[in-house]
Amino acid sequence: MPASLAGETAIITGGSRGIGFAVAEALAKLGIEVLIISQNSENLTKAITKLTTQGFKAHGFQADVSNATQMEKVGAEILNKFIPTILVNSAGVMSEKTAKTLKTTSLEWQRVMGINLEGVFNSVRIFAPVMVEKRNGRIINLSACLGRFSGPGTNGGLAPYRISKTGVNALTKNFAAETGNGTRGILVDAVCPGHCQTDMGGPLAPRTSEQGAETVLWLASREMTNGIQTGLLWEDKTIVPW
Ligand SMILES: NC(=O)c1ccc[n+]([C@@H]2O[C@H](COP(=O)([O-])OP(=O)(O)OC[C@H]3O[C@@H](n4cnc5c(N)ncnc54)[C@H](OP(=O)(O)O)[C@@H]3O)[C@@H](O)[C@H]2O)c1
Repeated sequence: MPASLAGETAIITGGSRGIGFAVAEALAKLGIEVLIISQNSENLTKAITKLTTQGFKAHGFQADVSNATQMEKVGAEILNKFIPTILVNSAGVMSEKTAKTLKTTSLEWQRVMGINLEGVFNSVRIFAPVMVEKRNGRIINLSACLGRFSGPGTNGGLAPYRISKTGVNALTKNFAAETGNGTRGILVDAVCPGHCQTDMGGPLAPRTSEQGAETVLWLASREMTNGIQTGLLWEDKTIVPW
C-alpha cells in the first residue's frame, strides 16, 4: 500500500458483512477512513461498532443500492463531507437456486439485476464524478467466476446472478474506457473473489472472506504507472477472460 493512501477515504457498498466487511477492515487498518453503505441497519451498526472499537475511522450509511433515490440521498450526505478516492462495490445477492431462465420470475430477475448490476451503476454514477474531477480514483467491482462465459461454468442456471455479473464485467470495461483506461488517474476493475465463507458463500467454502478480499486490496493500492492495465476481470491478482 503506498504510504500516501493513509488518510484517504474509501466507500464500500455491502461492507457490513462478508467480503465487503473484510475489505473495509483491511483498508481501515491501513489508516483509510471507511464509509460503509448497506441496507440492514442492525448489520450496519454491528460492522461500524466492530471497526470503531478498534480505533478506526468508520461511518455507516443506510441505503438500498438498487434504489437510485436512496443512493442519491446518501451520496449527497457523503460528498458533502468527504472526497472518496476508493470505491468498492461489494453489495450483492445470489439468485434463487432454481433460477434457470424459464424458472425465473420477472420480479426475481429485477431484484437480482437491480442490486448486482444497477446497484453498481448507481454507485459509480454518484461517486465516480468527484474521482474523475480530481483525477484520482480506484473503483473495484465485485464480480464472480459465475459471470464468466469463457472457461469453466457454462452449463446455464442461476441466470439472473450470472448475467448480472457478466454485466458488471461489461460495465467495468466500458467505464474504464470512458475514463481513459488508466491514463487519467482512474482505475476501474472487476474481481472474482473465489468461493468464500460468507452468508452468500456458505460455511463450507474453501476461502475466508479475508482471502476473498486480497485481490480487491491489491487493486485498491496499485501505484499509478504508465501502461497500467485496467478495465479487466481479476482473480488472484491475475487477469482472467470472461
Ligand atoms: N461469497 C462468495 O463465495 C462470492 C463468490 C463470488 C462473488 N461474490 C460476490 O462478492 C460480493 C460480496 O459477497 P459476500 O459473499 O460478501 O455476500 P454477503 O456475505 O451475503 O454480504 C452481502 C453484502 O451486500 C449487502 N447488500 C445486499 N443487498 C443490498 C442492497 N440491496 N443494498 C445495499 N447493500 C446490500 C449486504 O448488506 P446487509 O447487511 O444490509 O444485508 C451485505 O453487506 C457480492 O457481490 C457477491 O456476488 C461472492
